[in-house]
Amino acid sequence: MVTSSKTFLWGAATSSYQIEGAWNEDGKGESIWDRYAHTPGRIKDGKTGDVACDHYHRYQNDVALMKQIGLDAYRFSIAWPRILPEGRGAVNQRGLDFYNRLVDALLANGIQPFVTLYHWDLPQVLQDKGGWPARATVEAFVEYTDVVTRSLGDRVKNWITHNEPWCASVLGQLVGVHAPGAQDAESALCAAHHLLLSHGAAVPVIRANSLGSEVGITLNLIPAVPASGSTADYDAYRQYDGHINRWFLDPLYGRDYPPDLVRDYMRKAYMPGGELAFVKADDYRTIAAPCDFLGVNYYMREICRSQDIPEEENQPRDIPVPGPEVRTDINWEVHPDGLFEILYRVHATYRPRKLYVTENGSSYGDAPDAEGRVRDERRIAYLRDHFAAAQRAMEQGVPLAGYFVWSLMDNFEWGEGFTQRFGIIWVDYETQERILKDSAHWYADFIRTTANGRE
Ligand code: FCB
Repeated sequence: MVTSSKTFLWGAATSSYQIEGAWNEDGKGESIWDRYAHTPGRIKDGKTGDVACDHYHRYQNDVALMKQIGLDAYRFSIAWPRILPEGRGAVNQRGLDFYNRLVDALLANGIQPFVTLYHWDLPQVLQDKGGWPARATVEAFVEYTDVVTRSLGDRVKNWITHNEPWCASVLGQLVGVHAPGAQDAESALCAAHHLLLSHGAAVPVIRANSLGSEVGITLNLIPAVPASGSTADYDAYRQYDGHINRWFLDPLYGRDYPPDLVRDYMRKAYMPGGELAFVKADDYRTIAAPCDFLGVNYYMREICRSQDIPEEENQPRDIPVPGPEVRTDINWEVHPDGLFEILYRVHATYRPRKLYVTENGSSYGDAPDAEGRVRDERRIAYLRDHFAAAQRAMEQGVPLAGYFVWSLMDNFEWGEGFTQRFGIIWVDYETQERILKDSAHWYADFIRTTANGRE
């Protein structure tokens, strides 16, 4: 694949809690993920991110590996409780020092830092005061953003406010399978609103502190399709798409919350406090602050079937359910066309100035063989097919500017613990040894030779 622009960025992504470890070192405060993972029964294998990949101590070695692969850019997140252990107020200089060292090491190796401010590790003290369902957390996020961007803003030129607010709100506050593990629909809607509001409120602060930088937000978007031509399946599709995609995209692009979903949520009694009672004057304007890019995390599509009517009344089902052969180890369907579809749709409907694939990747457990080599051909095929789908989107005019593989290295996969390996680098969690998998060698080769017409 030869991309149409010589400035296209090939990168890899991680997040703080998933790789850093050092959970209580150098003045770091407790995060909601520390608390959640330390609670028995929450994580599948009973493990925590206390040590994870020990990246906090091994970042120089990890940057050297990025350099070896030839990455143009690296997306990582900042642990808020490292910077402000109490959530607000006193700044922990040692926390800032770590990220300053990391940024400097990246730049010294010619790798552009893409910094995510919030990848789910809220300071626990702020959770104790209400967390994201509380409006005061918006102000706290803006304060935190101000501290970080004043410190790193001279060198970091790409900022992502939030990672996947759907996961932080719905998985964290409604389904309860992510921190803080609550199950309350109204809190989830309030949390989602405050995440979006804090994004918009942070944009001007970032611009003021980091001159000439570009700012965006990352959403997990899922192209959905009705399982049949039936009205019931179409309605299931409308609801799913609204819940995952439009509820976030619409307000970010100045359209307020989608009225069909507002009606659904009222009917389901998700807003006992009144219809959109958490939306205050000017909120929509704040949320829709013009941004430079949208980050898209793509992993799967969804085939939507109505559960409200008996199966025999809901025919024909013309989309085959994909079998295990096209699923990764985490049981997510491999469907590269969905990446094309979602990129094209977002471009056609919302017209972001620029797009990045800020995450895409696959969980395959291939381990080192007798020679210490990790032959993860399935990951290579996965990446090749998804890169091709992105290329097709660009040919149709989608202004895609870069692609970040999830993940740089195997890491703590949230509620799945260490049972899923998404990395292009193998990590031995006992010894902290790293091995470049075949996919990392393939990616290195791809960046060096095929991509950007660099040869
Ligand atoms: C995304 C998350 C990321 C990682 C991948 C597999 O939803 O942003 O941290 O867990 O899924």
